Amino acid sequence: MIGNFKVILGISGGIAAIKCADIVRDLKGLSAKVLVVMTKSAQEFVTPTTLTAVGADSVTTSLFNDKSDMPHIDIAKDAQVMVIAPATANIIAKLATGIADDALTTTVLALNCPLLIAPSMNESMWQNVATQKNIEILKSRGVKIIGPEIGKLACGDIGIGRMSEPLDIIRRIEELTSKRDQLSGKYFIVTAGGTREPLDEIRYIGNRSSGKMGFSMARKLLERGAKVSLITGPTELTAPFGCECIRIETVDELRDEVLKRYDASDAVVMAAAVSDYRFKKPVQGKIKKSEGPLNLTLVPAPDILKELGDRRSNKILIGFAAECGDDIEKKAREKLEKKNLDMIIANRVDDDRIGFDSDYNEVTMITLDSVEKIPISSKDSIAEKIVEKFIFLKEKALRSI
Ligand code: C5P
Repeated sequence: MIGNFKVILGISGGIAAIKCADIVRDLKGLSAKVLVVMTKSAQEFVTPTTLTAVGADSVTTSLFNDKSDMPHIDIAKDAQVMVIAPATANIIAKLATGIADDALTTTVLALNCPLLIAPSMNESMWQNVATQKNIEILKSRGVKIIGPEIGKLACGDIGIGRMSEPLDIIRRIEELTSKRDQLSGKYFIVTAGGTREPLDEIRYIGNRSSGKMGFSMARKLLERGAKVSLITGPTELTAPFGCECIRIETVDELRDEVLKRYDASDAVVMAAAVSDYRFKKPVQGKIKKSEGPLNLTLVPAPDILKELGDRRSNKILIGFAAECGDDIEKKAREKLEKKNLDMIIANRVDDDRIGFDSDYNEVTMITLDSVEKIPISSKDSIAEKIVEKFIFLKEKALRSI
């Protein structure tokens, strides 16, 4: 059920644009508010008048001849989902590079909600390496893709490139919007990646964390409508669409950024691999090589999660425990209790197939009164399960925070 949701329908210039009247009509049938934004070439296939006639609440075709001075900001504000159907190779390339040269592309940059695109083009254009690379970039940013389907194309060929059917697109929008209700209005701090503790101005101690688990968590929380601040150690990953991303290096920087936001937050997910030790006195400049051994003193770094747990009030705290050897579950449970957490996710880091830097993991979700194993799966699907578990376990608490 979409009811009372604001949906933005972006239309770019492919022949499948003729199906957009059906999309608008179906969305109106579900009581959605539908704001249409069209590119110039889309108007060659379907007119603004047609879309208004089937119920669109507004149709924007330009940034300049609109009632509003800033139509892209007004349209993007408070939208629950945006869908671009059809999405041509051209619009996909523009989105991948962040070009904003018309009302549609500018609106996309101002979005703060999930973006779904329904590609539609000739098979060769779809399979062109440039298009495929652009699709990969969009996927890595959390953009959802539906289709294209195999079938008869406008050029007469049979192949892959047909836009998905309007009803399938509507079903996908419903899926995205129904999930979005679950955490809307909730503010999460998610930490990701590893920290680096300087030894001198050149060297540091760090760890092999890639940041993938924390980034997946941020993506899944955003999909459910949460506001997310993602605080991450050095990583090449692209921040998911719609979150505040803060890049840090040391434990102290991470602690500062977390504490700055802690009071305003509803929940913290500490997926970062935070250094337990740091150098007592990092050296100015570069430590010179000498013949003998080099003795360095390490002192404990602040345990951020423990500090949060000690002053938790009604927040929800989730930690991760990277463990080796036997009794992984027991060790993680001890941390859950010591750090005063709601949930801890235990994972093995002495198995090369999973864990650090892999796209896969095998974890156990532990709360005070439950234990649930998730077999080897992608970090995205593990994040999905953690978020579901979290919503299930904390429904009552969430209502009160
Ligand atoms: O005690 P341990 O480091 O194994 O606990 C892991 C959990 O604690 C993780 O969620 C990690 O992000 C967090 N942590 C922290 N500050 C530290 C070390 C770990 O917040 N200095």
